[in-house]
Amino acid sequence: MSRVICITSGKGGVGKTTTAVSLAHLLGKEKNTLLIDANLTTPNVNIHLGAPILKKHLMHVLTDKAKPEEAIYTHKSGLLVMPATASLHDLKFMDYETLKDLIFDLRTGHDIIVLDSAAGLGKEAISAMEASDEIIIVTNPELSAVVDAQKTIQVASEIGKLVLGVVVNKISGHRSEMKIKEIENMLGFPVIGEVPYDINVKISVKKNHPVTHHKKNSKASKEFGTVVSQIIGPKYTESEEKKEKNSLFKYVLKMLGF
Ligand SMILES: Nc1ncnc2c1ncn2[C@@H]1O[C@H](COP(=O)(O)OP(=O)(O)OP(=O)(O)O)[C@@H](O)[C@H]1O
Ligand SMILES: [Mg+2]
Repeated sequence: MSRVICITSGKGGVGKTTTAVSLAHLLGKEKNTLLIDANLTTPNVNIHLGAPILKKHLMHVLTDKAKPEEAIYTHKSGLLVMPATASLHDLKFMDYETLKDLIFDLRTGHDIIVLDSAAGLGKEAISAMEASDEIIIVTNPELSAVVDAQKTIQVASEIGKLVLGVVVNKISGHRSEMKIKEIENMLGFPVIGEVPYDINVKISVKKNHPVTHHKKNSKASKEFGTVVSQIIGPKYTESEEKKEKNSLFKYVLKMLGF
């Protein structure tokens, strides 16, 4: 059974795309995972991954100008992605039902589909939630972001979606920040990721790679790994550790001349 997981938030700029790209990249190591840029008004998966001018993308598929497989790319990090760009004209005539139908069709052939959603509670963000089975809320440890996250959770519950948990991103540790317990109490859902403010995230965007590829041992990457193990089970962490041990073993053998 395929799973569609929507990465969303109430407030903009909290780190949805960073989270979606990182989780899809790590999930892709274990399961056939596709990342779809479902943020059609301000798509930015492209910006994070540095895709060149695309011949075909999501909007072509939605308007019957391309087949879905023509708009799916394998990024150099290994991540499978369907990017989007949209003009004002496209958006004016956008039928969100078509987007939902497409996501439904793409379930065949993919174990997990990760949707990078728009912020807020507009039609676009709600459609992405409706097309999903599970929802991950991204927030920052500040009251305005958490209050907006609360509204998103309310809508998710109203439309009967399973909220997997909350990722608190850009934690600096400053005493002015909300504590994890306070956020959990306010939202009524567990925090499944505590991602620090990490300069490697910004550097990786400049390098056009998921941080989990560019600096897999960074604090942010490790925390995204923790989130992934909560999505697909602790086996993920074990196999990653095994891979690391294997590569260390191979390195030692090489140094010994084998
Ligand atoms: N953990 C982090 N540490 C440092 N910088 C971060 C972190 N997470 C995200 N950023 C930076 O914050 C900015 C916004 O992140 P991102 O684009 O992921 O947010 P978003 O929620 O998708 O925004 P939008 O609502 O516009 O779609 C980017 O410059 C990104 O590099
Ligand atoms: Mg975004």
